[in-house]
Amino acid sequence: MKKQVAVLPGDGIGQEVLNGALDVLKAVEDQYGHEFEIVQGKIGGAAIDHHGTPLPRETLDLCKQSDAVLLGAVGGPKWEDNPVDLRPEKGLLGLRKELGLFANFRPVKTFESLQDASPMKPSVVKDVDFVIVRELTSGLYFGEPRERRGKNREIAVDTLQYEKKEIEKVVHKAFQLASERRKKLTSVDKANVLESSRMWREVVNEVATEYPTVEVEHLLVDAAAMKLVYQPKQFDVIVTENMFGDILSDEASMLTGSLGMLPSASLREDTFGVYEPVHGSAPDIAGRNLANPLGMIQSVAMMLRHSFGLHEEAEMIDQAINEVLKAGYRTGDLSGHEKIHPVVKTDEMSDFVVE
Ligand code: NAI
Ligand code: MG
Repeated sequence: MKKQVAVLPGDGIGQEVLNGALDVLKAVEDQYGHEFEIVQGKIGGAAIDHHGTPLPRETLDLCKQSDAVLLGAVGGPKWEDNPVDLRPEKGLLGLRKELGLFANFRPVKTFESLQDASPMKPSVVKDVDFVIVRELTSGLYFGEPRERRGKNREIAVDTLQYEKKEIEKVVHKAFQLASERRKKLTSVDKANVLESSRMWREVVNEVATEYPTVEVEHLLVDAAAMKLVYQPKQFDVIVTENMFGDILSDEASMLTGSLGMLPSASLREDTFGVYEPVHGSAPDIAGRNLANPLGMIQSVAMMLRHSFGLHEEAEMIDQAINEVLKAGYRTGDLSGHEKIHPVVKTDEMSDFVVE
């Protein structure tokens, strides 16, 4: 198989975790005789420094010409005080919007061998396996107006807006996913307070009639946050608004032991996708070869599965990760309380996976 993959390292640990992920992709290429042509682009702070904008036209074109995109992470203190349009995060939001990637799949699956890395009890985290489907191109992060007003700019406004068809699209994706899995969909909203959530709930109930085999449950987001750490095994697919999904997935990451473990796929109707770890640019550990590359590497597996239909190859990556963790290797974030495992660097971890 021959495919073009756009690679956007971004900032901070983005480049570090991507290096290892590309080594893993190369190993798949060699072993299975595929050809993945890698084309590099800039996004976020790196693009601001180089092109004066967080999402240069040429980066967007590169992504549009490619079959899939691998992205590291964006952001950092260097650009924190920039005006809104010159912030790294604006590049990422723009990329998702421009490419129409309305559904963000964030699988949360715990590894048996990592039970000691999670701060939660083994009985709680054992066999957790669910997917958060986060709406990605609308909601609170995109609604207009968003502004400061008042004589002394003492009023700040963000807008949580949804069109019915935007909710329908992502809810259909979530139902399809649930019907391929354990057939349970949990929709998370704040329908006791928010008008947009009341419409969200209505749409979920309407779309549900097309998926009679899927059991549907509605949870308010505050209760969902509690149940995620209380009884996470009850979840199969969770579908929710942009910001709720952003927050709940970082919370859920601790079931696996680290934010560095979570991969994601940002998808639309065709097979194209942007694949990136859930974490950010981690300025506190950047440039020191300390980051956990496994969220990024699992994102490569998601790309092989969703964009290229290469299920066996993806399975091989997941198995390799499992073996490496079983053998006891850990990056610092996974070393747990007892510190009984050898702590390895970012590049060593990906080398072990390649091996
Ligand atoms: P963060 O996700 O970068 O880091 C949160 C904490 O988790 C830090 O202590 C970090 O060291 C740790 N961590 C994250 N990834 C790790 C990994 N792979 N291995 C080991 N430890 C890891 O979030 P933070 O610090 O709130 O934000 C930093 C910057 O990243 C900000 O500019 C933010 O806007 C940006 N950001 C970008 C995202 C993206 O590119 N998708 C997502 C989230 C934040
Ligand atoms: Mg986030």
